[in-house]
Amino acid sequence: MEVNTENIVKQFLYQGEPVAQQFPALHQSVYGKPLIYFDNAATTQKPYSVIHAISDYYSTINSNIHRGVHYLSQKATEAYEVSRNTVASFINARSSSEVIFTKGTTDGINLIADTFGSYAVNEGDSVIISAMEHHSNIVPWQIMCGKRGATLKVIPMNEAGELLMDEYEKLLDETVKIVAVTYVSNTLGTVNPVKKIIELAHLNGTPVLIDAAQAVQHISIDVQDLDCDFLAFSGHKMYGPTGIGILYGKEEWLEKLPPYQGGGDMIKTVTFKGTEYNDLPFKFEAGTPHIEGAITLKSAVDFITELGMDEISAFETGLLHYASTQVREIPRVEIIGNAIAKTSALSLSVKGVHPYDVGVLLDKMGIAVRTGHHCTQPVMDFYCIPGTVRLSFAVYNTTDEIDRFTESLQRAINMLV
Ligand code: ALA
Repeated sequence: MEVNTENIVKQFLYQGEPVAQQFPALHQSVYGKPLIYFDNAATTQKPYSVIHAISDYYSTINSNIHRGVHYLSQKATEAYEVSRNTVASFINARSSSEVIFTKGTTDGINLIADTFGSYAVNEGDSVIISAMEHHSNIVPWQIMCGKRGATLKVIPMNEAGELLMDEYEKLLDETVKIVAVTYVSNTLGTVNPVKKIIELAHLNGTPVLIDAAQAVQHISIDVQDLDCDFLAFSGHKMYGPTGIGILYGKEEWLEKLPPYQGGGDMIKTVTFKGTEYNDLPFKFEAGTPHIEGAITLKSAVDFITELGMDEISAFETGLLHYASTQVREIPRVEIIGNAIAKTSALSLSVKGVHPYDVGVLLDKMGIAVRTGHHCTQPVMDFYCIPGTVRLSFAVYNTTDEIDRFTESLQRAINMLV
C-alpha cells in the first residue's frame, strides 16, 4: 500500500512534552548507544504513574483483600474493586462482575478452555481457532480437545496474512462449540474482522473468545459492541505490571461455567459434604490474587485513557506506515504480513540471513527487537521461514527511531552478507 509519509506525526506529545519522558527505562544506553525499544508486543515499558502506584501500594495499604476487617485490608479491597470498575468501563462491560482478574491472557484462555470444555464440549464436537494464533490460543484448546474427544479446526489465511472468511463460514457447523481467535496477530500485525467472526458464530449458535492481548493497547475495545462472549488480555502489554490480566465474560456464560480453581475467596460456604461457590466474579478468583498488579493496572488504564485511544491508534498506525515504507527500500528485506488492516507489529525476513543474527547485531546498536517465531510456529511454517525480525510499536516510539533502525538494519545486512 502506497502511503504519504509526509504528514505522519513524528512523536506523541503528553502535556506538551514527548510522552517518552514518562518512561524512565527508555532513557538509558545499551552498549553505549541510546536505547530504542521496539519489543512492545512482548511487553511495554512502564510510565512513572504505574511505577509510583506500585511503590505507593507497598508503602501504604499493602494487605490482603476481601478478608480483613482492619483498615489496610479495607483500603486494599476498595482499591482492588475500583480498579475492576475502571477496567469494566474501559472495555464497556455491562457490569464489573463480568471482569475477572487473571495472571494474563494465557491464564484467561486456559480458564475458558478448561471450564467451557467440561461444561459444553463432548466427543465429536469441535473448536475453531485461526491460522495466526499465538501458541497460547492453540495449546489450551488442543489440551481440552484431547481430553474431551473433540477436533480442532483452523481458519486458513492467505499470503497477505488475512483470514479466509469464506473458509471460516464453511467450518461453522453444528459440531462447533466455541470459536477462539486473536483480534490482532502478534506476528503479522493483522487486525482480524472479529465483529464479523462473532456475528457469523452467533448465527451458528456458537460463542466466541477473543484474544485481545495485542489489541487492547492499540484499538478501542467495546465488548458490548463486539458482542464477544469472552475476551482476554494482559496488563504488561498495556503499560501495566506483569502477572496481571483480565478475562471478560458475559455474565450468562460465567454463571453457567464451573469454577477453574478451588480455594479461598471463590467460596461462600465450605463443609466436608460440599461447597457453595461465591458470586461472580469471585467464583473465578481463588486464592490471594496479584493484589498490587490488579490495583496498579488502573494506573495503566488511566494513562491510556488520558492519552486517548483514538489518538494512540492514529499515531501508531502512522509509525507502522512510516516503518513499512522505509524498510521496503532495503534490498533483501521482505515484510511478512501485508494485510490491509494492520496495527503495530512489523515482521521482516531478510533473504539469506537468519533473523537471530540480525537481532544480535541490532541489539549491539542499542535497538531491541524480537527475533524468532514469536510463539506462532504455525505462522512460520505457513511462510516456510525459521522466524522474523519483529518491530512492535508503542506510543513512545518515534519516526526518528525508525530512521535509526532502518540505517542500522542496512548496516547489519551489509555485515552479514
Ligand atoms: N506474545 C508476546 C510476543 O508476541 C510475548 O512477543
